[in-house]
Amino acid sequence: MLEAQPIAEPQIVPRHIAIIMDGNGRWARKRRLPRVEGHRRGADAVRRTGEICKELGVSCLTLFAFSSENWNRPAAEVDDLMGLLRHYLRREIGELERNGIRLSVIGDRTRLPQDIIDLIDEAEFRTQSNSVMRLTIAVSYGAQDEIVRATREIAAAHARGELSLDEIDEQAFASRLYTADIPDPDLIIRTSGEQRLSNFMLWQAAYAELLFVDTYWPDFDKSALLTAIAEYNARERRYGARPAR
Ligand code: IPE
Ligand code: IPE
Ligand code: MG
Repeated sequence: MLEAQPIAEPQIVPRHIAIIMDGNGRWARKRRLPRVEGHRRGADAVRRTGEICKELGVSCLTLFAFSSENWNRPAAEVDDLMGLLRHYLRREIGELERNGIRLSVIGDRTRLPQDIIDLIDEAEFRTQSNSVMRLTIAVSYGAQDEIVRATREIAAAHARGELSLDEIDEQAFASRLYTADIPDPDLIIRTSGEQRLSNFMLWQAAYAELLFVDTYWPDFDKSALLTAIAEYNARERRYGARPAR
């Protein structure tokens, strides 16, 4: 079967792609299915996207799965989402380990059920020396919360006399974020047509290319990802400098 190839030219594959996986509910509603079915199909898309990114040579893939604000959804939906996360971790740990993928989970994990915290610890431990791709899943994650935590740590280090005012710079700050050991995203994709960041990677997004696509997350596939990479290649990243042409 022929696969969709957006353009023939060689493409630069972004080193770090981050995705705000949105639209599971609307995907289900369109088909008159319960929301949980949209979330289930969203979990399939997570697996699929991980495999494609690995195949394409993406170094870091970060997926926004559950925000700190998503705790405000009805308890039954939160339970469904936690159930899917539990199922995903149980099923995928071995596969990630074999495929050379290092998994990290970022966010406020103290709010998660204990058995899920244990599964995350196990997954991170078993995949810690893998280096083919870094897969980061943001769960119970909110960028404002992340920034406040970093600020608190900096204030505490200063109060202990370990960090002078002059030493408080971008590096001191970035090294206290959940993402301390991964590069900032080059490309942030949000599915489902919404054009906002919804409290995702507010610091790290400083120079990311933002791409908003109409596809609902459960429908996101290889052709959607290749089209996104082609769009990324058509952009000129200037970092404040003058245009190249
Ligand atoms: C994304 O899909 C999954 C989460 C935010 C947990 P939604 O559940 O937000 O789906 P829509 O936006 O209602 O379609
Ligand atoms: C953002 O989606 C969070 C995730 C994709 C995990 P939401 O559906 O929660 O965002 P809003 O409510 O549309 O801003
Ligand atoms: Mg949504």
